[in-house]
Amino acid sequence: MVCHVRRGCLVVKRSVALGLALLAFAALGARARSGIPSPQEAKAAIGHLGPVPVPAGNPLTRATVDLGAWLFRDPMLSGDGSVSCETCHLPDHGYATPDQLGPAYPSKAERRNSPSLINVAYNLPLIWDGRAGMLDKQPLGSIGNVLHMNNNRDLLVEQLKADPTYLAAFRAAFGDEAVTTARIGRAIGAFERTLVFDDSPLDRYMAGDESALDGAQKRGLDLFLRGAGCIVCHNGPNLTDNQFHNLGVPDDDVTGDPAVMASVRFDAKRNGYQGWEQLGEDPGRALITKDPADLGAFRTMGLRNIAESAPYMHNGAFETLEQVIAFYDRGGGNHPNKSSLLKPLGLSDADKADLAVFLRTALTGKQRPGPVR
Ligand code: HEC
Ligand code: HEC
Repeated sequence: MVCHVRRGCLVVKRSVALGLALLAFAALGARARSGIPSPQEAKAAIGHLGPVPVPAGNPLTRATVDLGAWLFRDPMLSGDGSVSCETCHLPDHGYATPDQLGPAYPSKAERRNSPSLINVAYNLPLIWDGRAGMLDKQPLGSIGNVLHMNNNRDLLVEQLKADPTYLAAFRAAFGDEAVTTARIGRAIGAFERTLVFDDSPLDRYMAGDESALDGAQKRGLDLFLRGAGCIVCHNGPNLTDNQFHNLGVPDDDVTGDPAVMASVRFDAKRNGYQGWEQLGEDPGRALITKDPADLGAFRTMGLRNIAESAPYMHNGAFETLEQVIAFYDRGGGNHPNKSSLLKPLGLSDADKADLAVFLRTALTGKQRPGPVR
């Protein structure tokens, strides 16, 4: 089944409305309700991932996906031939890396954590600050970005044209040998649409198998939906509202490193951010909207297979899920612009352990086989 990017936008809008409804649900339900949420309750708040969104102009075929996988792994896409997409999005690390920040193109300092690409096709917008939209165009951003691959896209096109094996792969994927930047983006986008992971214990529970979660996982689910209110922002099938919030995540490792701050200011300058010269922090979403209300706000990340992609947050501030939970239990961090949705939770040690078990085990699924033709 083919669905359109536009319909993806509708899903996102629906999840905002759902988020607001759930806010009321979580506030009413916190602690007053007792008992484990039923599969139906979990399904209403979270639900199963639908068919992967595929844009009309880029059907998901075996040949486009194969070409995209090859490009994704090819360090020739970078300026000095040392870095591929996979260098920073490792398949055996949830398509993220264990590094706190970056890694970056050689001799540069990345200022953010490399995010997981698991279920990335369901995310809109993309990037921690939401600067990118289409999955089929984003790869061209990575290729040209001096902090990531630092390459010239037109030169890359000529280099790929000079390789007969690539020419054959472009012909197989697109019907002729024309190598264009748009086709490079579409092939990598097609490959990324195959990174769909579901059929987790939570999916099986939501489908009605009450034995799919054990006692600790069920108590963790209860906390996620009610007691700890995670569902307010991590809702819908990919466990994200696709919105931006300032959580006050500790930022000393960014602000305390002059090389990293140089990259922060450079990125702010090229985004036309006023006052970039004096910047003392990563402005986050405000870089794109220029709205002071968005200062230090970052995108809610999806939580499926979250066990695989430590460290966590836009700046990799937390090494473990236990640290993430302790942070939320404190009501988040300190920032003048912190979201009013965060409040101290008063979780017991047993609650924290159950929530960690839920995040680490109940959300981990396996890669879907289809629907590549
Ligand atoms: C040198 C490291 C590096 C390389 C190489 C790299 N990335 Fe990334 N990627 C990152 C970082 C860091 C971010 C977050 C950037 C930000 O928020 O400013 C990111 C973000 C992304 C996102 C957004 C994910 C989301 O959910 O928001 C996608 C998609 C992505 N990269 C795909 C790619 C592709 C495709 C390539 C190769 C063409 C690539 N990356 C190459 C480090 C890298
Ligand atoms: C107010 C909205 C909000 C609430 C409530 C919330 N989160 Fe988040 N979550 C976010 C945002 C936004 C981010 C990214 C923040 C950043 O990097 O600065 C995030 C990031 C995370 C991450 C790291 C994701 C990654 O890929 O690095 C985890 C894990 C997480 N949240 C778990 C939880 C849990 C567990 C709860 C409940 C105790 C919770 N969240 C409550 C908005 C929220």
